[in-house]
Amino acid sequence: MNAGIIGTGHYVPEKVLTNQDLEKIVDTSDEWIRTRTGIEERRIASDDMDTSDMAFHAAENALEDAGVKAEELDMIVVATVTPDQPFPSVSNMLQHRLGAKKAASMDVGAACAGFMYGLITAKQFIENGAYKNILVVGVEKLSKITNWEDRNTCVLFGDAAGAAIVAPVSDGKGILSFELGSDGSGGPHLYQDKEDDFLYMNGREVFKFAVRQMPESSVNVIKKIGLNEQDVDYLIPHQANIRIMEAARQRLGVPEEKMATSVKRYGNTSSASIPLALSEDVKAGKIKENDLVVLVGFGGGLTWGAVALKW
Ligand code: ACO
Repeated sequence: MNAGIIGTGHYVPEKVLTNQDLEKIVDTSDEWIRTRTGIEERRIASDDMDTSDMAFHAAENALEDAGVKAEELDMIVVATVTPDQPFPSVSNMLQHRLGAKKAASMDVGAACAGFMYGLITAKQFIENGAYKNILVVGVEKLSKITNWEDRNTCVLFGDAAGAAIVAPVSDGKGILSFELGSDGSGGPHLYQDKEDDFLYMNGREVFKFAVRQMPESSVNVIKKIGLNEQDVDYLIPHQANIRIMEAARQRLGVPEEKMATSVKRYGNTSSASIPLALSEDVKAGKIKENDLVVLVGFGGGLTWGAVALKW
């Protein structure tokens, strides 16, 4: 028996902010943003929609998809770096709002790799037999820590939520291998400032790290289960920058149409990016039963994580 994903869900705010809109706010151009990042537009949550609200909508969507009731949840894990407030945690708020009466709840923080950390945490509780149904959510309202005068960062990020229900699965399906890692010496390259609360990034350093780490971790999780690059049916890399994603895709030799590319429409939504892309692509029929899927993410910390799973 493995832990596997038995349902997915997502939520994106209605308001679309295009590259053309950003041209009016900072000294940038649609051409610069598209060629450097692949991003065309992103979603921005309204003032009255906080992180827990987006998480709630994605969670309801995932529960429905899995056919699981909130009362059946044993645990809720929320990955976010933009909680409504430091405590109570977003997962505590979700527990109450969903009516998940018996669920334990906690938030995990690993920046854009947060969903991977949450997913692997859930896997442990399922595979040791302690729990049956775990809700894992990746959610961010990055717009509230974005400096809208800093063109180095404000063109990159967006708001969204993605969710998955993790439960025991059979027939060799589910999470087959994983890798998690961190390197705190990279902290100064990507962080939230204590004084002004804004996100700061040394884009070139993060880029250098990510183009090395994403392909390496993707290959590692495949090798761990004795398979090769050509066995991968679908790749969901963290949706940060199309050039970084391409590095992973080309290393695995996966065809273009077999890689999630929602970065175009949503920008980098940090913890939400992988579960959002997964939910959309499953519902679009791009991921089929028994497909070998690789999820791989990296983020501030620096942190990273990957899984190979059979859908
Ligand atoms: N519009 C126009 N010019 C810009 C913009 C902009 N929005 N932003 C920066 N520039 C300028 C810079 O000022 C710099 O100018 P200079 O050379 O005169 O100093 C120049 O563009 C930099 O250009 P490039 O070197 O060509 O940019 P690069 O190819 O490094 O791309 C980018 C920049 C997109 C930020 C890239 O480095 C990157 O994607 N890095 C990784 C970012 C990332 O993935 N972050 C998410 C991490 S996950 C998490 O935990 C949040």
